[in-house]
Amino acid sequence: MNRRFATNIFCTALLLGLLLLAAPAMALQIVYPADRTYVTKSNYLILKTGDPQITGVTVTLNGTESDLIDISDEVYRNAFGDIIILLPNWRPGNNQIVVAGFREGRRLAREAANIVYLRDLSAIPPKGFEPFVMHTPEGEALCAPCHLMQPVPAVRRGDTAATNACGDCHQGLLDKKHVHGPAGVWECSVCHLEDSEPNRHRLVASEAELCNSCHIGKVEEFEQRRFAHGPVGVGLCTICHDPHSSDHSGFLRAKPNEVCLACHEGLDQGTHVVRGIGGKPHPLSGPVNPLDERKEFSCVSCHDPHGGDTQFLFQGGAQTKFGLCNLCHQK
Ligand code: HEC
Ligand code: HEC
Ligand code: HEC
Ligand code: HEC
Ligand code: HEC
Ligand code: HEC
Ligand code: HEC
Ligand code: HEC
Repeated sequence: MNRRFATNIFCTALLLGLLLLAAPAMALQIVYPADRTYVTKSNYLILKTGDPQITGVTVTLNGTESDLIDISDEVYRNAFGDIIILLPNWRPGNNQIVVAGFREGRRLAREAANIVYLRDLSAIPPKGFEPFVMHTPEGEALCAPCHLMQPVPAVRRGDTAATNACGDCHQGLLDKKHVHGPAGVWECSVCHLEDSEPNRHRLVASEAELCNSCHIGKVEEFEQRRFAHGPVGVGLCTICHDPHSSDHSGFLRAKPNEVCLACHEGLDQGTHVVRGIGGKPHPLSGPVNPLDERKEFSCVSCHDPHGGDTQFLFQGGAQTKFGLCNLCHQK
């Protein structure tokens, strides 16, 4: 009897101890991006609050602390419940996030996360950091009270942000000047699986295969060339193209030269295609490409971004450097 009583007290004490230990972490959680993950976009910082209820948060990003963000408002609570969505500006590379939760001026919780923002196309995921994955069963459970996370097919195929199940949260993907055909009509399922394990919405096929399923002639055309350009040779398309939308022509992730220089760093620093002894280097950008007046002059005016029949992937079937010059500079 006594012994059981003692055990009970011990258990209660242990439980209280655990609860006290657990409580601060429960009061505030960094949902996205999680600690030691990396992201490729600077879009959201998503927090979840819990018990004990906090009424305000501050966010310290890389040492700079925000003002107190008031979340005690009834209207806010009714709409967003315990979820806080902020729009941070990550800096390229490592970012240190510290969030603190307050109630009546007292700090009740503090959480920190170390994340990496991989902005550069060529950046290699850092050691010890995992890609952030949102659509896991645990991740989705946090959103399911208010967002439709397991939509029936009809809602998956809605062709506007308002009628499509992905529209609540992913409208920003299409907020650019040019929207890629299938994404523009919210045909997300053409490329993303409806159900995949362990996380949902994985790609239907490998990237090149996926692109090839619609751009059939293209990938064949690339493969028939003698020299495939590095990333194309290993089936990467989205390192240069955004599959959803872009402000640049050809759905490029940046201006053509920026895309190229992300990997071929420093190539624009003065020695590329020098015009003879003591001459200035050839321009690498300009208002008009003489071979196609609708386009700007860029690296892509001389080099085919996908591949070519010469080592240097010259445009227009040019076999030699001289042949290339002649495409634009006929006497
Ligand atoms: C208590 C309800 C609730 C929960 C839980 C919730 N949300 Fe929301 N969320 C909303 C409401 C309401 C909106 C606004 C919808 C609108 O504007 O039509 C919204 C909008 C959003 C947006 C769009 C923000 C913008 O305007 O760019 C994102 C992203 C989002 N939620 C993500 C999430 C994620 C991720 C989760 C789970 C971790 C989640 N939400 C959980 C209620 C909730
Ligand atoms: C409740 C909001 C919400 C809804 C609804 C939602 N997503 Fe997401 N999803 C997110 C957030 C937040 C992320 C992580 C940030 C980002 O990549 O924008 C994410 C990430 C993803 C990713 C990257 C992989 C991953 O799991 O992190 C894919 C792919 C994706 N979503 C596809 C979809 C598709 C397809 C739909 C519609 C069937 C959908 N999502 C509906 C919030 C949502
Ligand atoms: C043409 C094929 C294609 C279509 C259509 C498509 N996606 Fe994607 N999506 C991809 C590929 C490929 C990736 C992986 C490469 C990357 O990270 O951009 C991706 C990645 C994502 C990601 C994670 C990376 C990021 O950029 O945030 C999200 C979220 C996402 N897709 C949501 C959607 C939603 C929502 C739709 C419907 C509006 C959609 N996708 C339609 C091909 C597609
Ligand atoms: C479901 C079919 C479909 C898939 C899959 C698809 N595309 Fe497209 N793509 C289109 C359509 C339709 C257009 C033309 C309309 C437009 O410009 O949006 C297009 C246009 C393009 C263009 C612009 C072409 C031009 O002449 O300027 C590029 C670049 C492109 N897609 C790249 C890709 C890449 C990279 C992938 C793989 C991630 C891909 N597409 C997968 C249907 C698809
Ligand atoms: C190294 C960067 C890069 C890679 C990798 C890449 N592309 Fe492109 N792609 C470009 C550029 C640059 C353009 C030209 C855009 C312009 O002229 O406006 C282009 C144009 C296109 C076009 C439209 C013009 C054309 O040539 O028909 C399609 C379609 C296309 N790419 C598909 C793909 C597919 C599919 C893959 C993967 C197998 C791929 N690209 C890989 C950079 C790239
Ligand atoms: C994701 C990285 C990446 C991007 C982006 C990229 N390249 Fe490359 N490029 C490579 C790799 C890898 C090789 C093959 C290795 C090598 O020869 O240096 C290569 C090779 C080349 C070659 C042939 C070099 C030789 O010695 O034969 C040319 C020319 C070239 N790239 C031009 C471009 C242009 C133009 C762009 C922009 C449209 C571009 N690259 C974008 C990675 C990239
Ligand atoms: C006026 C035409 C022209 C333009 C514009 C041009 N290139 Fe080249 N590029 C050449 C020629 C010609 C070669 C062959 C090597 C040589 O003789 O200089 C070459 C070689 C290369 C090589 C392989 C040799 C090396 O230097 O590494 C790469 C990579 C390359 N270019 C990338 C680029 C990138 C990236 C841009 C844009 C910033 C660009 N090129 C713009 C004509 C051009
Ligand atoms: C895709 C078209 C293109 C190719 C290929 C090309 N150039 Fe040019 N080149 C230009 C443009 C555009 C200018 C700038 C013209 C201007 O400013 O009026 C230029 C300028 C020049 C100039 C300066 C003379 C002037 O008119 O200001 C010389 C010299 C030159 N190029 C030599 C070459 C050589 C040598 C090659 C071969 C290695 C070559 N170009 C390949 C488009 C090209």
